[in-house]
Amino acid sequence: MLNSILQDIHDKGYAVTNNIFYNSELTLINKLFTEEKHRFIPAHLGNGAQRVRDVSIRGDHTLWLDPKAPLEILQRPTLLLKDLQVELNQRFYLGLKEFEYHLAYYSPGSFYKKHLDTFEKDSSRTISFVFYLNEEWTTEDGGELVLYHKKGEEIIHPGPGKLVVFLSRDFPHEVRPSKKERRTLTGWMHNKILM
Ligand code: OGA
Ligand code: MN
Repeated sequence: MLNSILQDIHDKGYAVTNNIFYNSELTLINKLFTEEKHRFIPAHLGNGAQRVRDVSIRGDHTLWLDPKAPLEILQRPTLLLKDLQVELNQRFYLGLKEFEYHLAYYSPGSFYKKHLDTFEKDSSRTISFVFYLNEEWTTEDGGELVLYHKKGEEIIHPGPGKLVVFLSRDFPHEVRPSKKERRTLTGWMHNKILM
């Protein structure tokens, strides 16, 4: 699986992998999600002094977690990310040092307009990754991730247990509104040590 991610990153700059989680894992993650829901806060745009909240651009709620002390149910994906980071460095010399992640949910109707994951004054985000955590998702539910590239766009259906990895600087992208709550674990690998 890591090999096909590396190959796709090499060929296209992004990789989509299905069935990362067992159904039983998704069930447990969703249980955790529901229990911790009161701790999520509305997401902001930018960083440092530029941080603002604007639901006409971005409407998700997030809960930042520490990947150095992963929750038990997130240990397997966290190890996978560690291995992926090592392999990405060996293959592409990306100088990745550390990753961060948060759980996120989009309430029905909320979205994230086209954007880049790098900040104006800090371009250390190098690899973006998104695990899709809903146990069920149909095409009518919407909530697609759209990756824009030179030749057009790639529309990714946020199906259960999917993982999307892409080069943060190369793909402006958006999250389309969904009909039901849309849940993810989203994060970034940085080419610097995080404070
Ligand atoms: C983000 C983002 C994509 C997704 O949080 O920056 O683009 O599919 N998420 O949730
Ligand atoms: Mn993004």
